[in-house]
Amino acid sequence: MTFDVEAIRQQFPILSRKIDGAPLVYLDNAATTQKPQCVIDAIVDYYSHCNSNVHRGAHRLADEATTKFENARDIIAGFLNAASRNEVIWTSGTTEGINIIANGIAQRLQVGDEVLVTEMEHHANLVTWQQACKRSGAILRIAPINDDGELIVSAFNDLLCAKTQFVALPQVSNALGTINPVIELIVSAKAVGALVLIDGAQGIAHGAVDVQALGCDFYVFSGHKLFGPTGTGVLWGRESLLADWPVWQVGGEMILSVSYQSAEWNLLPYRLEAGTPNIAGIVGLGAAVEWFSSLDTIGLKTHETALLSRATDLAEAFDGLTIVGRAKNKTGVLSFLLDEGHPADVGFLLDRQGVAIRTGNHCAEPLMKRLGVPGTARASFSIYNTLAEVEQLFTALNKVKAMLA
Ligand code: ALA
Repeated sequence: MTFDVEAIRQQFPILSRKIDGAPLVYLDNAATTQKPQCVIDAIVDYYSHCNSNVHRGAHRLADEATTKFENARDIIAGFLNAASRNEVIWTSGTTEGINIIANGIAQRLQVGDEVLVTEMEHHANLVTWQQACKRSGAILRIAPINDDGELIVSAFNDLLCAKTQFVALPQVSNALGTINPVIELIVSAKAVGALVLIDGAQGIAHGAVDVQALGCDFYVFSGHKLFGPTGTGVLWGRESLLADWPVWQVGGEMILSVSYQSAEWNLLPYRLEAGTPNIAGIVGLGAAVEWFSSLDTIGLKTHETALLSRATDLAEAFDGLTIVGRAKNKTGVLSFLLDEGHPADVGFLLDRQGVAIRTGNHCAEPLMKRLGVPGTARASFSIYNTLAEVEQLFTALNKVKAMLA
């Protein structure tokens, strides 16, 4: 199997779009990835042929919808190497997954307990823990990073102690692309008896994840950063923990029996899935994961590395450009500043040339403050980007520079 980027591009209809006559150069993949035709088709097929509610109906459509929906759960369980399909809980995305866990943890934390996160958190994996600590009287500890945007592992380890009840950290920083040594960090956290959640939002699209090999207790990700639909996500957790996890929302689907005075919760995975789920989205996510799993993982990583390497070389040679986030181990994220202009202006002027990036604090405001920057311009690459597109980014940046000068 070889990694053929042109063949992959052909599968993404949006990539043939033009922006004001210029070919779209989509470099905002850390915000959301584009969707291959097979994912779009799976959603259209679902609505065209078997739209129905799941687990409820006494008719053919309901059976077919339920089969597709539960088949997606099996696909994701296999993809993550979960010990059981019961460990795969559907969510609306990473944020909801973290909230479900933080809600449960907040009920268990005692005054003086500690929760450890890092300086590179996305708001979703920071504010949730701030709130959990405020509710319970626990203390939020923040593991520092160095100026290159790498976690200082020794400082992380120093912050672990018998009071550390919970550790939540990103597999990959969304703002900088830093890849954390999660296995090593999980081992340290488990050694003090903490539960560990890995925020996989940014890590999931860069290769296979084996939750059993990772050794964490919870892993969360969003479908839309993995070539799937928005509004979908997965919370994976160990069955022994989720089986009596405090319920997040109550309603239909998640109950076993109800009287006017009380209710008994359903078994996993349904006890944490109240209400009618995003059925079409989950069917689309199953298609996305099936598609992604069929790719050549080694070829994919080699291609992504080549994109980042070329972008970094061009960035280093670009007069007046500062790279923000210089971790040795990174995914395809190039966060940067131009001397001539504010990131928002850079983003605006790149867009006029068909180049789509994200600018701002990337939902990581404390991280930006820690690094002493107002925000950054962030180009983020995916498997369908080409070296030619990386070069187009810098051709466009040269024009931006001239315009801003
Ligand atoms: N968290 C997403 C990003 O990094 C939206 O852009």
